[in-house]
Formats: sequence, structure tokens, C-alpha cells
Amino acid sequence: MTVRPRLGICVSGRGSNMQALLRAAQRGELLADPVVVFSNHLDAPALERARAAGVAVEALESRGYASRADYDAAVVQCLQPYDCDIIALAGYMRIVTPTFLNAWPGRVLNIHPSLLPAFPGLHAVEQAWSYGVRVSGCTVHFVDAEVDHGPIIVQRAVSVLPDDTVDRLAARILEQEHDAFVEAVNLVAAGRVRLEGRRVLIEPE
Ligand code: GAR
Repeated sequence: MTVRPRLGICVSGRGSNMQALLRAAQRGELLADPVVVFSNHLDAPALERARAAGVAVEALESRGYASRADYDAAVVQCLQPYDCDIIALAGYMRIVTPTFLNAWPGRVLNIHPSLLPAFPGLHAVEQAWSYGVRVSGCTVHFVDAEVDHGPIIVQRAVSVLPDDTVDRLAARILEQEHDAFVEAVNLVAAGRVRLEGRRVLIEPE
């Protein structure tokens, strides 16, 4: 029998990407089992949604830690009992340190609302819209030590429409994020991705 990978999901806010992963799991369409949702904010709306879906939740505020690495060590310790195989950063608005990454080497995924390497960092949709790009989108990538930088697993393009606003564009990108994240988690969970340099090669099913 194949052992299903255990998925930990890290969130900071509303958690629509988390919810997309949880719903896919409920529908039997996720090849990993969500076992815990973690937040750096005790009052993140995502936590309530996770509880309602029957998933364990954990939260730790980052205030009071001497360094990012100290905080990440506490996060790793908090998640350790859940024995996660894959970690999905689903709107987790913190830069993670090697202390975090070394706990799940090559198994931390992030979603970002732009076609990386364009527009990394905060307010990506607004950055792209103000720049005047005709096409934007979203990216799911492995996380490395640099912000929004690691090898790309899945991207989805979204056209910018003549009468778009940042909010309308963000909403269409978010729809694509939800599908793209499920697809990327499934590729990793199924062991279908292989790295060649920073290129992600996808094995056929
Ligand atoms: C998503 O658009 C995600 O791509 C973005 O935050 C939003 C979280 O929404 N993440 C980043 O910008 C990371 N650099 P959600 O809480 O509804 O999933």
C-alpha cells in the first residue's frame, strides 16, 4: 500500500488557498492528507475555516523571539508532532529561514500571485497592474533561501483586461491560484517532480 504524504499548511490571513487544498482533500482529489494548519497570527480567519473542516490548527505569534531563526525553530518544534512530508505556504506572509527549510528539505512549496520572476515580494498583483503588463498570473514554486525565488512547479497565466482594476485582476488570479496549488501539491505528493538545476521536470503519470 502506498503511504499518503502528510501535508502541513501555513497561513497568515483569510486562507482561500488553504481552503482550496482542504476542499480538494474532502473531494478525494488531493494526493496528500492535510494534517495541520499553522498560522503566525492567532486570529487569522483561516484558522476558523480549518477548524470547521476538522483539521488540527496551531498558531504562534512571532513577537518576542530574538530572531527569525529563533521563531522558525519554535514553528518547527510546534509542527514536529504532525510529521509532515510536505509544507504548503498558502498566503504565509513571512520570509522563512534555513531553520524552517532544513526541517523539510526540498518539500516546502509557496504560492505567489505573479508570473515569477516578475514581481516578487508584497503586493504582487498591484505591482504587475501598475507596471502595465498585459499578462500576469500565479506561480507555485519550491521555497529556497531567497524570497519568491525557488524552482517553479506550476504557473498559470491570466490576461489583464482593458477595464481591469487591481481587485478584479487579483480575483481572477486567485481563482487560478486555487487550481494551480492543488495541481502542484499533487505533482509533489505523487513523486512526479525531479530537479535539473533549477528546472522542475515533471514525470508523466
Ligand atoms: C494569495 O494571493 C497568495 O498568492 C499571496 O497571498 C494571498 C493569500 O490569499 N501570497 C503572497 O503574496 C506570498 N508572496 P489567501 O489567504 O486567500 O490564500
